[in-house]
Amino acid sequence: MQSYALETPIKKFQYKEMRAQELYLKPNVLVEPLVDRWYAWAHLIPPATAARNISHRHLRIMNSYISSPESHAAAVKNPAMLGGPFMDFDGVNKAEEVAALRDQTICGRADLLALSQAISDLAGLLENKAQGFSLEGLYPEIPAPLQGYVELVYDLNNHPSFRLLEPLLFKSQYYDRSLQSLMLSEITGDDRPFVLSTPRLNTPHAAELKVPFDSEAVDNLFRLKTEPDCFCAIKSALGSRDEDDALLKSFLTANKPAPYQKYEGSGVRWRYFGHACILIETAGVSILLDPVLSYTYESDISRYTYEDLPEKIDFVLITHNHQDHILFETLLQIRHRIGAIVVPRNGGGALQDPSLKLTLKNCGFRNVTEVAEMDELPFRQGSITAIPFLGEHGDLNVQTKTGYLIRTGRHSLLFAADSCNISAKMYEHVHADIGDVDALFVGMECDGAPVSWIYGPLVTNKLDRRMDQSRRLAGSNFAKALAIVEQFRCKEVYVYAMGQEPWLNYIMSLKYTEMSNPIIESNRLIATCRERGIVAERLFGEKEILRP
Ligand SMILES: [Fe+2]
Repeated sequence: MQSYALETPIKKFQYKEMRAQELYLKPNVLVEPLVDRWYAWAHLIPPATAARNISHRHLRIMNSYISSPESHAAAVKNPAMLGGPFMDFDGVNKAEEVAALRDQTICGRADLLALSQAISDLAGLLENKAQGFSLEGLYPEIPAPLQGYVELVYDLNNHPSFRLLEPLLFKSQYYDRSLQSLMLSEITGDDRPFVLSTPRLNTPHAAELKVPFDSEAVDNLFRLKTEPDCFCAIKSALGSRDEDDALLKSFLTANKPAPYQKYEGSGVRWRYFGHACILIETAGVSILLDPVLSYTYESDISRYTYEDLPEKIDFVLITHNHQDHILFETLLQIRHRIGAIVVPRNGGGALQDPSLKLTLKNCGFRNVTEVAEMDELPFRQGSITAIPFLGEHGDLNVQTKTGYLIRTGRHSLLFAADSCNISAKMYEHVHADIGDVDALFVGMECDGAPVSWIYGPLVTNKLDRRMDQSRRLAGSNFAKALAIVEQFRCKEVYVYAMGQEPWLNYIMSLKYTEMSNPIIESNRLIATCRERGIVAERLFGEKEILRP
């Protein structure tokens, strides 16, 4: 009897010890996916666009910074230069480290630099020699790095072009997973340097995990947000080095996060997480659009964060391939929770329009579903329909873009994203098929950056400045957005995807005032809708709506 009496407290003690070792990933651990130390946005993963960005964005910015770090430090303080090609190291001179990164890029990425040059050379070849006659004779002249990876084509008016065989490029030496890594640090405020211009260098407070994005270790890391493990198991699963032990421990906590309160009502609940990120829940399904999430830290601006996501997300919907709508930083963190990820289909092979399906699959996402315009995906008591999305891509032939109509029960919500209503007839045709819509979510960033801001490194001919300025990445203005509202006889209108949340500066670089055109135009829309008895609001920070 005594032995039993002794055993119980010992067992209890051991249990307590074990419990004390269970650690979670802190909710303010910033995890930036990197490719060769640059933030992994959607064009840095497919080989051809990555090659062009390395040669025509990264090397140019690095060379400029090395020759004059002070002018970069001054430029990033100037609001007029926001989002420009300037490195932001908070005033610290990092010229030596940037020079080392540049040298490493030139030596270590010779394959990708050759691929980039080959793309320029091929464009030159077609311009000079493809005059409407058969292209077959030009195949031997295709630059060596592109041999076997392209098909030469004309459009119906004899304009020559080429299409890339993207699946083969992903299987070639040009897709080097060893360039991928995750950089971990703690985040305590909204300020982060702009991702397209500033590489991530070593700091004493950041640990780099050399794991490719498709690695199981990525899911293991992010499961730690809700499923604890002991330090040894965490370290071994991540392949973390001994010298990073203290740093890795500082990213972990024994504090258990509060469990997620699922929506159990009989209607629908939607929550705005900032920008174009909205979570829709019914008792049977959860849908997350354009996931771009804030971490959890003290702030004056209330917001939903990673901690406000359900354990299982049935559908993630991506509207288009701009870095503020498809964010690998967020997607990798929730990959293990996603049932299906739905992306717009593209034409296949255009340099400016890499396949999201291929990109995601190569980053370890399973169950990637492509949708074409007007495709419908049914789910229990509802459906998702892909709605055509025009414009907002500088008139480039980019087809990877879609709006989504979500029907659930009696409710219909249309997420138009950044669709620019340049052809009102298009929505008239859509309306003839889908009928009226209860709630419209529409982006109104109607100034937009010039087309070169994102696509400049892909351009092989010099783009005239005036042409660049005229072709913008702009969404709908007042008149265009109002036409959508009227066409679908919406009862509720929400302006979203405006990039106003301060925690988005690292991908958006926008600062509006009351005099900014997108604010003036969206204020007009809201006022006009309200005059007509339509619920209207420009979303900011967080919002929850329940519909019975
Ligand atoms: Fe966009």
